[in-house]
Amino acid sequence: MELTTYQVKVNLNGTFEEFPLELAEDETSHLLVKLQDMLRNWPKLAKFDSVQVFKKGEPEMVYELPQAFLSSPMSISIMGTGYVGLVTGVGTCHIGRRVICVDIDEKKVDKICKRIPPIYEKGLKEMLVSLPEKYFSCTTNLREAVMNTDCTFIAVGTPPKENGEQDLKFVESACAELGKILKEKPGHMVVVKSTVSPGTTQNKIKAMIAEHAGHTNFKIAMVPEFLREGLAIEDFLNPYRIVIGVEDQETFEAIKFIYEDFDTPFFKTTLTGAEMIKYASNSLLATKISFANEIGNLCKSLDIDVYEVMDGVGLDERFNRKFLNAGRGFGGSCLPKDVKALVSLGKTLNQPTELLKAVWAVNENQPLKMIELAEKHLGDLKNKTVAVMGLAFKPGTDDIRESPATIIIKELLEKGAKVIGYDQFAQENMEKIYPNITYAKSPTEAIKDADVVLGVTQWPELRDEKLYKGKLFIDGMKFIDKRTTDDYEGICW
Ligand SMILES: NC(=O)c1ccc[n+]([C@@H]2O[C@H](COP(=O)([O-])OP(=O)(O)OC[C@H]3O[C@@H](n4cnc5c(N)ncnc54)[C@H](O)[C@@H]3O)[C@@H](O)[C@H]2O)c1
Repeated sequence: MELTTYQVKVNLNGTFEEFPLELAEDETSHLLVKLQDMLRNWPKLAKFDSVQVFKKGEPEMVYELPQAFLSSPMSISIMGTGYVGLVTGVGTCHIGRRVICVDIDEKKVDKICKRIPPIYEKGLKEMLVSLPEKYFSCTTNLREAVMNTDCTFIAVGTPPKENGEQDLKFVESACAELGKILKEKPGHMVVVKSTVSPGTTQNKIKAMIAEHAGHTNFKIAMVPEFLREGLAIEDFLNPYRIVIGVEDQETFEAIKFIYEDFDTPFFKTTLTGAEMIKYASNSLLATKISFANEIGNLCKSLDIDVYEVMDGVGLDERFNRKFLNAGRGFGGSCLPKDVKALVSLGKTLNQPTELLKAVWAVNENQPLKMIELAEKHLGDLKNKTVAVMGLAFKPGTDDIRESPATIIIKELLEKGAKVIGYDQFAQENMEKIYPNITYAKSPTEAIKDADVVLGVTQWPELRDEKLYKGKLFIDGMKFIDKRTTDDYEGICW
């Protein structure tokens, strides 16, 4: 394998020492990790002031790094390899850090070790496969991961309870496990990535880790995740902003250093501020969608095209056109959960959250409108065959958590309809919830015997008008741009 040689020039309080650093072809992007490993083991470390790095034979400096480089987290462990943890882990290694992913689910860990992503996300497999073994690994052994890294991200799930409140059981056990290990590792950094309600990092997570560690000698930060499933890799590499909630400037600088190559605003705030920015962002997105849906429902009654209306509205830069597509409502593991968590927080604080309650109410009813439209054409749906096209909560992911398709299937089964589902990627997950409906192997097979076809999640392969020719088609997500025949109904158009 070809080697690339760098020349490292270390400033030891005014005197300079030079040595070469060789990297194999597949590890040049991890130059800083290797350099840090070397310097930390260097006998003359006490006098270290700064370091310059050149590519051998080239005059231009590649890096000039200050003292703080030695303590910057170049090696990161991540608890949880779900949509957030795995994308963060793979992405963070891709940008040149060493990453050890940890999960309690042995099957997931096994797959990731074999470079098979346990979830579907565009571009994830290719990136995972490209990571050098030396710099990316996955394990169930948290101790080993924490002891060999400078910083641990907590990216475990925070699902909603029945009453909308967040369920912290995974966070609590993660904190207990991590705390016990930190007993032997003072000075570690902990970054909370999981979405938690304002005050949780400060009052619960920090306190729980400290209780189990028996000390408070660790740094803590709250760095909320804003990735969109289906576009998660793209969002990781091109974030709109990185929000960093901290208690001190040093931790802020250290986390900024992890992402130093990103050309994006780094927004410094408090731990609680970061938690609220995440909730407020998701609630605002949800509000835009429910607003578009409510206007869309009015437009449908007046025979106005809501997409044209939102195109006109969105031209005003105070609003922006994004998240104004009317349709069958939002789903997924974030928007519904985060809106409900804020409503629940409002109750606890005795502060009304009427707007958010209405956002949720519009959304709960929206998928059912597709069934109402089917009934308008067919009458009673008992024993009618209904094809549900697209099962994931949105295109580009296999995630079915709070997917409008789950609500639609439930209602159809209650009405005695025969349901045929189709989704190239999300079918396996839907089978776990609805094992007894029929699943088709192709879009044509799903549609063949259907009395009505419901377009629920608009994967590109399903946006083909020819597929639905001669069938009653209820469109929940603009599968078809414009169809004027009697056997077509848009949900809000
Ligand atoms: N999915 C998204 O699009 C998204 C976006 C932004 C933020 N978030 C937030 O990020 C967090 C994670 O979401 P997700 O969708 O990735 O969750 P997920 O349920 O897909 O994954 C969580 C993972 O954590 C693992 N886990 C649980 N306890 C563990 C422990 N003690 N040690 C190690 N692993 C453990 C689980 O086995 C699972 O693999 C949530 O708080 C969520 O609200 C999610």
